[in-house]
Amino acid sequence: MSQPQIDFEKIKLQSDGTVKGYISTGFNEIVLNNPYFAAGGGLMLLGTGLALTRSGIVKSSGFIYRQLLVDLEIPSKDKSYLWFLEWMAKYKHRSSRHLSVETNVITHDNGAITTKFSLVPGPGKHLIRYKGAFMLVNRERSGKLLDMTSGTPFETVTLTTLYRDRNLFNELLSEAKSMALKLREGKTVIFTSWGPEWRPFGQPRSKRLLGSVILDKGIAENILNDVKDFLTSSDWYHRRGIPYRRGYLLYGPPGSGKTSFIQALAGELDYNICILNISENNLTDDRLNHLMNHIPNRSILLLEDVDAAFNKREQVNEQGYTNGVTFSGLLNALDGVASAEECITFMTTNHPEKLDSALMRPGRVDYKVLVNNATEYQVKKMFLRFYENEFDLCDQFLAKYRKLNLQNISTAQLQGLFVYNKRDPKAAIDMIETLQNPNTVF
Ligand SMILES: Nc1ncnc2c1ncn2[C@@H]1O[C@H](COP(=O)(O)OP(=O)(O)OP(=O)(O)O)[C@@H](O)[C@H]1O
Ligand SMILES: [Mg+2]
Repeated sequence: MSQPQIDFEKIKLQSDGTVKGYISTGFNEIVLNNPYFAAGGGLMLLGTGLALTRSGIVKSSGFIYRQLLVDLEIPSKDKSYLWFLEWMAKYKHRSSRHLSVETNVITHDNGAITTKFSLVPGPGKHLIRYKGAFMLVNRERSGKLLDMTSGTPFETVTLTTLYRDRNLFNELLSEAKSMALKLREGKTVIFTSWGPEWRPFGQPRSKRLLGSVILDKGIAENILNDVKDFLTSSDWYHRRGIPYRRGYLLYGPPGSGKTSFIQALAGELDYNICILNISENNLTDDRLNHLMNHIPNRSILLLEDVDAAFNKREQVNEQGYTNGVTFSGLLNALDGVASAEECITFMTTNHPEKLDSALMRPGRVDYKVLVNNATEYQVKKMFLRFYENEFDLCDQFLAKYRKLNLQNISTAQLQGLFVYNKRDPKAAIDMIETLQNPNTVF
């Protein structure tokens, strides 16, 4: 193939003699009039042009997408994730052909079990119409990652809608939230420890009314006022740099209503309860510490049988390891509870004499109260609660109670007697002697 010759003569003739003239004519001659160069250059230009257009289209479609559409990503770890799925399961204007089932097993108080299936949108894309706007819902599993605590795969739900409808996300989420909360309204959620985390224990329960736990005169009111006062003093604590927490100790014989009262109090305050049993064997100091620092919002921490931590030093199992929480572990965990939110800790014990004074120091226990066996005041109130308006029979009951000189009767025993004779107060009076034997099983 012959090389194209550069015609220097022609350049010289056509230029006007200046350097500029030489360069421009030279360029025309070498580049534009050269057939090889022109062909390659043309192709190159065409290629570049196409490439630019393509990336332009990609970029501008991305731009248009960003300008016109908005995404909202809800990862499965977020609280609103379940709320959203529940909401969507109930939402009518959706076109999901791909559903997955979630089975809820509900154990009723009488032991009966019912199951409920809710069909929630399965993984994949769904289109919904919410308040006039179309939304694309994409539920995706993220790879093979598993949430080790629940054994479920990590997922995300992405909602996409037009930019102008972005405000609807907020509305939708708050609707989902209030729908979920309505189901729990008037209920107390009990959390128990599950490995290193708190898990709801069973279904949320109906609140126990504060009036249904009958403590001796003034005790319940005083505790309630104290807790309410504490809950409204966050500024006071923060300004003085005092950790915003308060510890309560209820001590007294078994069956006097300590646990029941705390549950009713939680219901009254609209709080949930996190129950920890210190005497649980596989609860270690580390776990205790971790749990106490990760208490769900608006919850009362309830430590049952705190005395159990005090004789642990001697309790060594066959392998030579101590089981359960140690005394110092408990003290540290109580001190370590450092959350921005308020922290209310209730402790119960049947053996206050076993408690160490280190636990009793203010900051750990700020309020302690004896919840004792039934006083006459309580007997009367309980009788009238079970048998409304039976004032005469109540007097008879009390007279017999005094005559028998019944002592150390727990409110739980009284409840047992009244429950056994639900509709028959006279029978309760006749059976009053059974209270003398605390182990009576009706
Ligand atoms: N003061 C009370 N008023 C109403 N019910 C009570 C009262 N005390 C006990 N009960 C009833 O007795 C049962 C046991 O009460 P609860 O578990 O609250 O006792 P407790 O003081 O926590 O006992 P323990 O020290 O053994 O844990 C519950 O069913 C509760 O309804
Ligand atoms: Mg109890």
